[in-house]
Amino acid sequence: MERPIYFDHHATTPIAPSVLGAMMPYLTTSFGNASSTTHAFGQQARLAVEQARKQVADLIGASPEEILFTSGATESDNLAIKGVAEGSRRRGNHIITTQIEHSAILDTCKVLEKTGFEITYLPVDKYGMVDPQRIADEIRAETILISVIYASNEVGTINPLSAIGEIAWQHDILFHSDAVQGIGKIESNVDRLNVDLMSLTSHKMYGPKGIGALYVRQKRPRIRLSPQNYGGGQEGKIRSGTLNVPGIVGFGQACQLAQTEMQHEAERLARLRDRLYQGLKNQIDLLHLNGHPAQRLPGNLNVSIEFVESLTLLEKLENVALSTGSACSSNSMTPSRVLIAMGIDESLARAPIRFGLGRNNTAAEADYVISRVIEEVTKLRRLSPLYQMRMVAG
Ligand SMILES: Cc1ncc(COP(=O)(O)O)c(C=O)c1O
Repeated sequence: MERPIYFDHHATTPIAPSVLGAMMPYLTTSFGNASSTTHAFGQQARLAVEQARKQVADLIGASPEEILFTSGATESDNLAIKGVAEGSRRRGNHIITTQIEHSAILDTCKVLEKTGFEITYLPVDKYGMVDPQRIADEIRAETILISVIYASNEVGTINPLSAIGEIAWQHDILFHSDAVQGIGKIESNVDRLNVDLMSLTSHKMYGPKGIGALYVRQKRPRIRLSPQNYGGGQEGKIRSGTLNVPGIVGFGQACQLAQTEMQHEAERLARLRDRLYQGLKNQIDLLHLNGHPAQRLPGNLNVSIEFVESLTLLEKLENVALSTGSACSSNSMTPSRVLIAMGIDESLARAPIRFGLGRNNTAAEADYVISRVIEEVTKLRRLSPLYQMRMVAG
């Protein structure tokens, strides 16, 4: 077994060998600019980009012309929110989102608030799930956009996008989803999910970093986004900038790979995740599962362990790459805002441990992680007077 063991696949994933293989020619000999189509170098690059666009579109049941390449999900989220807000300003100034979004959504909304937009940040239920009815209750005549994360990057809960999208459609409101954690892991068909805009990123699905996409529906309705950067007019004048051809090719290949592996991989990961949970739960008392018990990403396990500070535990587990929550906030001891939005007690919201399982993880690794976590939790609790008192009190 190789160490350290990587259990942090929500933060990022390794590049699949076939993805790297597909990218190599575009990093070396076929280096043309996809806009320079007056010669073979550029034509080759353009062909590769268009093939990748189709591969990305196929994974989510979209048409290639509905895929806009970006530098990743942060840019896609910004473009979706600001692009719709600016493009639909005359229609209204109200956006509905949730308290459990990634900061790429929340911080973009905060900026819009300064320019006169009104944003509703909905809480979620105790499992981290958004209630479609609560969304319906918040809709106003001025509402132009609803944005809801597909699967939580912290607790893995999968939201009922289809039902939310139906409500949005009935009210003629655009519906965006940050689907980064779901794409390539669970079914993500844009028509079945009823989404109009969807953010994707390659590095969470065994592709390279620095490349992503925004799905923008082109039929019923045809969405017009306001560009967020200006220049050479690439990507239909919405997203100027020389295309990252090797990244795009790798992203396309990663999408094709996900399509063939997804179902089998989801079943395998769910079994591995359940093995991990049961192994920990059987031996560690006062351990709480965060997130929905069934409606969750197959590779996600998130638990809080009473009387154990998660950062201290992670430091002790030097052979295992784990996280306390989202990669952006994993160094802070502030409570997880996702767990707080779920109404979880503050002491438990300060103690989440996120296990993110992926394609290369094995049962032997899960067993090793179980034994190491049990060992360190036992040691830490031996040193905790509060835990000892709790045990005496029963
Ligand atoms: C839900 C979610 N949205 C957006 C992002 C940002 O993606 P990127 O790293 O491609 O900018 C992440 C990654 O951490 C994420 O988990």
